[in-house]
Amino acid sequence: MYSGRDSIAPFVASPLPVVRKMLEYADLKPGETLYDLGSGDGRIVLTAAKEFDAKAVGVELNRRLVDEAMKKSDAVDLMDRVKFIHGSIFEVDLSPADVVTMYLTTGANEKVRPKLESDLKPDARIVTHDFSIPGWKYTKNMKLKEGYRNHTIYLYVKGDQR
Ligand SMILES: C[S@@+](CC[C@H](N)C(=O)[O-])C[C@H]1O[C@@H](n2cnc3c(N)ncnc32)[C@H](O)[C@@H]1O
Repeated sequence: MYSGRDSIAPFVASPLPVVRKMLEYADLKPGETLYDLGSGDGRIVLTAAKEFDAKAVGVELNRRLVDEAMKKSDAVDLMDRVKFIHGSIFEVDLSPADVVTMYLTTGANEKVRPKLESDLKPDARIVTHDFSIPGWKYTKNMKLKEGYRNHTIYLYVKGDQR
């Protein structure tokens, strides 16, 4: 059972055009494995599976959001390509990931960074929405306007960090 104290970021969904841009920015390829850390309503996981032919895993603390994401996957027949883990980012083995996505906060990214450093393959790519990873050097970043505000996307390669 998880409590609010385990949460490192509130639920705010990435707009779908931002989700697509994040996955393009990561150059997510068919057959690759994506992990979305704090997967919310599952939109990044579902888009990765449906539009990019990837295998995708969501990790989410909030049971209600996990249930909602699973219902959506079932409805679009994607249950064989997606998985949702009801649990904490800090308890899940991230070593199978080719691509990791995160829309958390700067402080949360700082907390998750040691987990990325210990688990991920050297060539894993990490894409973050709006918040950079303190202490890491991004490969590139971009801004896009969606709705009423600007969004920033950062791309990192694990092996480029010291
Ligand atoms: C800003 S939302 C992002 C949702 C989704 N990734 C997106 O971009 O649309 C952050 C999510 O992280 C989840 N979260 C916060 N702390 C977590 C933790 N320790 N382990 C797993 N999920 C967590 C929250 O419940 C929330 O759904």
